[in-house]
Amino acid sequence: MTDFNQLEAIETASVDELRTLQFERMKWTLEHAYNNVPMYKKKFDEAGVHPSDFKCLEDINKFPYTTKQDLRDNYPFGTFAVPMKDVVRVHASSGTTGKPTVVGYSQRDIDTWATIVARSIRAAGGSSEDMIHVAYGYGLFTGGLGAHYGAEKLGATVVPMSGGQTEKQIQLIEDFQPTIIMVTPSYCLNLLDQLEKKHGGDASNCSLKIGIFGAEPWSDSMREEIERRLGIKALDIYGLSEVMGPGVAMECAETADGPTIWEDHFYPEIIDPLSGSVMPDGEHGELVFTSLTKEAMPVIRYRTRDLTRLLPGTARTMRRMDKITGRSDDMLIIRGVNVFPSQIEEQILEVAELSPHYQLEVVKKGNLDTMTVRVELKEAANTACYDKVESQLRHRIKTMVGISTNIDILPCGKIPRSEGKAQRVLDLRQA
Ligand code: DLL
Repeated sequence: MTDFNQLEAIETASVDELRTLQFERMKWTLEHAYNNVPMYKKKFDEAGVHPSDFKCLEDINKFPYTTKQDLRDNYPFGTFAVPMKDVVRVHASSGTTGKPTVVGYSQRDIDTWATIVARSIRAAGGSSEDMIHVAYGYGLFTGGLGAHYGAEKLGATVVPMSGGQTEKQIQLIEDFQPTIIMVTPSYCLNLLDQLEKKHGGDASNCSLKIGIFGAEPWSDSMREEIERRLGIKALDIYGLSEVMGPGVAMECAETADGPTIWEDHFYPEIIDPLSGSVMPDGEHGELVFTSLTKEAMPVIRYRTRDLTRLLPGTARTMRRMDKITGRSDDMLIIRGVNVFPSQIEEQILEVAELSPHYQLEVVKKGNLDTMTVRVELKEAANTACYDKVESQLRHRIKTMVGISTNIDILPCGKIPRSEGKAQRVLDLRQA
């Protein structure tokens, strides 16, 4: 039996071994997709390529991209490559508009997923000795069940709390004394506030040692804030339903330098989001994935819309990705300057009196987009400091991010709290 407390051989294999494995698996995936999913057959035929044209890894760039729209056009099950009797589970990601994107898994896919999540928790420093409090939502969202099966496979004790019921979360954390928490960083902040409230302002002595945070962008300043206040090591887990769910990439505890992509299962590329051309490692662009082992729903060059860059491997052979700056659809263009919420977050966290709870509201005035930054004062901060804090934050954003904003400082508790993925941007431009 595999001992999930040990590194798997492939994690430290040579780059050559890894590339050979990727080539074989990608070849299988291209054939599997072409032969079993009419959408891929049509797309390949239209692009004039055939799986037999794939002779080396670089040949992947002959094949067409897949977009979220392609998946939507084949709603709900049109991109499945196995008969429905072999699909043992479906999940769905809630789009902001219209129908969700549905994804399917065979039994082998579920086993693979559990294995890479177990690998991810181990990379964070977890083992079968740990008790893991899972506060990602259970249900159609991949977070809860994805984390759950991985934690079980590792042999850890799982507390399947799901999202919401904040008071109960706090009670279970205090009573059960888990050592690891898996939750969105924004919901963690919410839990942290409550824990501090109960413990005279200091939650750093709680039982938690490791936090595995993802499902939404979070800045390094947020990492420092959570690590300091909760007394834990906070690590980044990345994933998306279309490609698998959580655990496509995971930051290793020993280096904490951006998520390692589990390249034996997912082949990454970075492309220029406008021209679609492939960029060299190190350059910023849109992350694209080809699944290498998925049976029920292979994805070929799936455009994630997440912006980052590929970095060389450090703790493992596989390449890393930089922290996600944001999604191309979350990028705001304020008077010609491209801005991501995480850049504003970093500036907020530099101001001592401000809490990490914020929302950005964007409206159109004439042809210009205008942004209002709504942010709360810390509970202990003196309300007399409003003016000073407001001008300090406006100045920081102007000099560091390069845009003029309206600042709205609110008393503690006025920004809606997240129980899953936070809604950071209120875009009222269409309204
Ligand atoms: O959010 C899967 C997941 C669950 C990942 C739990 C990590 C932890 P979706 O709901 O399909 O799946 O949303 C995927 O969330 O394309 C990114 O834009 C964003 N995202 C996920 N992880 C991170 C991260 C899950 N670590 C979308 N940093 C992705 C930044 C992230 N953004």
